[in-house]
Amino acid sequence: MNLKNDLLLRTARGEKVERPPVWLMRQAGRILPQYRALRAKLSGFKELVETPELAAEVTIQPIDELDVDAAIIFSDILVIPEAMGLTYEMVEKKGPFFPQTIKSREDIHKLISANDAAEQLQYVYRAIELTKKNLNGRVPLIGFAGAPWTIFSYMVEGSGSKTFSKAKRMLYAEPELSHQLLEKITETTILYLQRKVDAGVDLVQIFDSWAGILSPEQYRQFAVPYLTKICQSVTRVPVTVFGKGAWFALADFAAMDCQVIGLDWTISPEYGKKIIGAKKVVQGNLDPCLLYADNKMIERATLDVIQAFGDKHIVNLGHGVYPDTPLDSVKQMVATVKNYQYV
Ligand code: CP3
Repeated sequence: MNLKNDLLLRTARGEKVERPPVWLMRQAGRILPQYRALRAKLSGFKELVETPELAAEVTIQPIDELDVDAAIIFSDILVIPEAMGLTYEMVEKKGPFFPQTIKSREDIHKLISANDAAEQLQYVYRAIELTKKNLNGRVPLIGFAGAPWTIFSYMVEGSGSKTFSKAKRMLYAEPELSHQLLEKITETTILYLQRKVDAGVDLVQIFDSWAGILSPEQYRQFAVPYLTKICQSVTRVPVTVFGKGAWFALADFAAMDCQVIGLDWTISPEYGKKIIGAKKVVQGNLDPCLLYADNKMIERATLDVIQAFGDKHIVNLGHGVYPDTPLDSVKQMVATVKNYQYV
């Protein structure tokens, strides 16, 4: 189906565009009263993720309410470890928890094969098909997955963590075993993303949320090769690589077969552009806390980031929007971008 607004895709392909596109990581979720109202009627987060009609509904809420240039399918990166055999619980106000974790070679051998794992995620593919149908070409739909290192860290650690020292311990103490697990995650992720593209997503983003917890050397060893492989395997749609805290890996990202590189707010546009060069599009990188400022400051900072990146830029925050962000502030940011015109 033809898209009525394909600005995100034209930008990701490096074409000359009239203004930068804008969307927000975590735009589908608790910032929206419509989301909170629907969520309150359900058993929990997982019911929303696993029911295609509901997932499609909350995916489209930010398009109606915020007028952003892209939708991102409502799901979670943790559906992959679950499909591989480790179920998770989403504990209210605390986050994810895995009753079983990976501790040994046997645990890795017991994991479900990549093919079977990707096959199990029918509810995601169905949600994508429904969302595409209901969006009716209004904006492109983004699909996503966690990067192998970030998924590995949940599978070994079993929950969020300040240090991820159990996961990092495995990298240092059992490097060969770590590579085995990373390889399995990568294989599954590739099949999963290909199925998402089959189902209709127009672009995919890889979230390496815990990149910044690794040393540059560990990142080169345990993250870069797998991200490289994923980028090589997703060929039909543009790919965005976003490594949170991964300032040290920008040159590695620039060498990958991806079209867009996401930057967090700790990286200045000047530094990011210098390391990445002109061959890639960059996405970001306003501080999510900017949205607690008054409208004038939000407008000023949004214009500043657009001007600092120049063209080949997708406006976004440097990480997911925080749940207590005022909706009007998000709207101010979006309106500022939409009123902008490149000269
Ligand atoms: O961006 C979007 O709007 C699409 C939806 C989306 C969710 N999770 C929904 C969600 C996306 C892209 C994710 C990705 C995700 N999930 C990441 C990578 C991005 C990042 O933030 O770094 C990570 C690390 C996770 C794992 C995860 N899921 C955590 C740590 C938590 C708990 C913390 C939190 O934000 O609540 C979740 C839960 C989660 N995922 C919620 C939503 C809307 C909140 C659940 C609820 O409704 O109560």
